[in-house]
Amino acid sequence: MSTMNLILMGLPGAGKGTQAQKILEDFDIPHISTGDIFRAAIKNETKMGLEAKKYIDAGNLVPDEVTNGIVSDRLAEADTKNGFLLDGYPRNIDQAHALKEIGEKLNKPLDGVINIHVEPDVLVERLSGRFICRTCGATYHKLYNKPKVEGTCDVCGGHDFYQRDDDKPATVKNRLDVNVKLNTPLIDYYGQEKLLYNVDGDRDIDDVYKDIKHILDNL
Ligand code: AP5
Ligand code: MG
Repeated sequence: MSTMNLILMGLPGAGKGTQAQKILEDFDIPHISTGDIFRAAIKNETKMGLEAKKYIDAGNLVPDEVTNGIVSDRLAEADTKNGFLLDGYPRNIDQAHALKEIGEKLNKPLDGVINIHVEPDVLVERLSGRFICRTCGATYHKLYNKPKVEGTCDVCGGHDFYQRDDDKPATVKNRLDVNVKLNTPLIDYYGQEKLLYNVDGDRDIDDVYKDIKHILDNL
């Protein structure tokens, strides 16, 4: 396969960011997480960030025209020449249609959609125990994915960690409700497009990755 134009999908907490970190160790393609892009914009207090924050803090989707525009610009950048790993986009059918148009315009058709499946009741605990390195963004869990040395990031050696604002219990519930509703039609759509690969995400992180690696090696 000459390009690897990929989507990594899954409910909040399914492990998209965690598996993306592993994919990047083996495949040289940019990781494009719309959630990360919004959080960076919020941190920098840009106009887009301040607008997006209202939706994110409530656990709702940022409006499609904002999100589609961001992805369209990002996929036009030179580093996506050999492929890209979209994480958290598309999240509804309208975004899936927009991505198809973007792909046609840029001549970058999708090669595969990896769906990390985890039942919603497991996800609350994953989100409430998550913490993130402030320096490099690496993601950990207080029970399931601790840094090798307590208080020190495995990736960059940083010592400053934070919890996401939208991982508070009140927001988590709505985030899950919103995404559960949108998820099934998207899975059906990519199944019909013959692009879908399902992975059982309710196992050890390394076992989940083994499956993903196998899929990507055989695309
Ligand atoms: P986004 O940042 O994408 O959040 P999300 O979809 O809710 O997903 P998360 O990042 O919370 O989960 P993840 O799947 O990456 O899990 P992780 O690997 O961290 O989006 C945030 C917000 O931005 C949205 O709510 C929305 O408002 C807005 N937005 C983003 N994209 C948008 C779009 N396309 N359209 C509109 N709005 C958009 O893992 C979670 C935890 O579990 C970690 O602690 C991890 O260590 C642990 N863990 C991971 N894998 C395992 C495992 N196998 N076993 C045990 N623990 C594990
Ligand atoms: Mg994530």
